[in-house]
Amino acid sequence: MIDKINLLEKEIEALEIKNAEELESFRINYLSKKGEITKLFSDFKNVPVELKKESGKLINDLKQLAQNKFNQVKEELENQFDDISGLDLSLPGDSYNLGSRHPLNIVRNEIIGIFNKLGFTVSEGPEIEDDWHVFSALNFPPEHPARDMQDTFFIEKTPDILLRTHTSSVQVREMEHLKPPIRTVTPGRVFRNEAISARAHCIFHQIEALYIDEDVSFADLKQTLLYFSKELFGEETKIRLRPSYFPFTEPSAEMDISCTLCGGKGCNVCKHTGWLEILGCGMVDPNVMDSTGIDSKKYTGFALGMGIERITMLKYGIKDIRLFFENDSRFLKQFHSTLI
Ligand code: DAH
Repeated sequence: MIDKINLLEKEIEALEIKNAEELESFRINYLSKKGEITKLFSDFKNVPVELKKESGKLINDLKQLAQNKFNQVKEELENQFDDISGLDLSLPGDSYNLGSRHPLNIVRNEIIGIFNKLGFTVSEGPEIEDDWHVFSALNFPPEHPARDMQDTFFIEKTPDILLRTHTSSVQVREMEHLKPPIRTVTPGRVFRNEAISARAHCIFHQIEALYIDEDVSFADLKQTLLYFSKELFGEETKIRLRPSYFPFTEPSAEMDISCTLCGGKGCNVCKHTGWLEILGCGMVDPNVMDSTGIDSKKYTGFALGMGIERITMLKYGIKDIRLFFENDSRFLKQFHSTLI
């Protein structure tokens, strides 16, 4: 018996337990009900009386030894992930990759902010529209080329369901359900059946403004445009209006700003004209008022619309419209510091 105890003692002392699995086998082999030490206790009854005292003490010591070893290794294994010795705590931590606003959203928010200051609220409408809101209510004649498959993505024919080609459709929706005075800006995605190139995309963004009240005049439009342009492009910015045509405004105009790069002297960006075309605008056509249930004898209004990509490209000197849609983080992170 004593020999056996000594043998087990040496065995336990020499054992190296490296992981939780080995610790569990150790427990089963020595400490469990069928383990070696428990067996010694049951053999104890056969030990001659004169040896009982000595071997009893040895078995108890052995059990204590095994139990201590078990407890110690268990604690070591539990704490091994808390061990920070050997770690260099002065090393810099892993930095988070902060996201940033998309440049189109930065510019969109900036434009909305300018119109907010003038009392305009934001409105939105559906991207999938019907012919009425995109064309008919906006005074497009039936044979207008924009109604052609070449320019518009149709989803269904008769009745025509299509992807809106401009945000002017939301003007119609606002005029249909609001009573003047109406002052609203409408940002949104628009779709046109165009070949994708550095300058054009089949999906892009517009923002539209609409103001309807009694006695709104072309002078109000012009002053709004001047204020808007100075806020967005800088105090020194000049504007000019060129006569134009849109079915839904009469008279209509296109607005240019003095070139943001050369200030009007002439350069490559403005093709040596000194001017950059920015937006379309005009006085809301009385036919549009009548289509949407607003009394065109009592009210007048102005509308204007612009492409957000174009303005963003001018503001940041971006040369290829496709960059906006590739979501290349090397492009996007250049706008990191702009928090608008
Ligand atoms: N909807 C026009 C377009 O997509 C832009 C436009 C021009 C909007 C004149 C207007 C406006 O509100 O008055 O080309």
